[in-house]
Amino acid sequence: MKNIVILVSGGGSNMAAIVREAQRANWRETLGAQVAAVISNRPDAGGLRLASEQKIATAVVDHKNFPDREAFDAALAQVIDGHRPTLVVLAGFMRILTPGFVDRYAGRLVNIHPSLLPAFPGLHTHQRAIEAGCQVAGATVHLVTPQLDHGPILEQAVVPVLAGDTEQALAGRVLSQEHVIYPRAIARLLRSL
Ligand code: GAR
Repeated sequence: MKNIVILVSGGGSNMAAIVREAQRANWRETLGAQVAAVISNRPDAGGLRLASEQKIATAVVDHKNFPDREAFDAALAQVIDGHRPTLVVLAGFMRILTPGFVDRYAGRLVNIHPSLLPAFPGLHTHQRAIEAGCQVAGATVHLVTPQLDHGPILEQAVVPVLAGDTEQALAGRVLSQEHVIYPRAIARLLRSL
């Protein structure tokens, strides 16, 4: 069985979309894959509750308990590796990862970022797109490399930026497309792993 480990920091709607698609498309039978665990760096992440409700193993590795990024990433990797992952999925995981961590999962570590990369890496992507006068915005699924929000692009979704858009309105429009492209990109990648 190809184990998928999902890392979240917040609400976990992308994680939930992946779990839903895994059930709908019966990934166990069709891909020999399962969501094995959901891990968060924040004990209060809503995604943990959602995962527990689906009977998926959960764990917390709280970054506040570690002196530096190296120590946190080492502890996180230990918990991840306990689930023998084929694929590690960052789904709203809001931590900068060390090069050592990224190298450990090279080629099997994916992220979704709420912009059309390489435009707008980093934070506040929607506000920056509105302020720049962009007519389109979107989201990108990519393989993770040591450089933040870079790496080979697996899939993108494009949405319009509408007149008078607020950051929240645009974020919601992008997020609903994230829920479409992330499970699809993961299924495609799993076939090659
Ligand atoms: C999503 O929009 C995701 O693209 C973004 O955080 C949100 C998480 O929502 N990720 C990043 O900004 C990573 N740089 P979710 O917890 O509901 O999936």
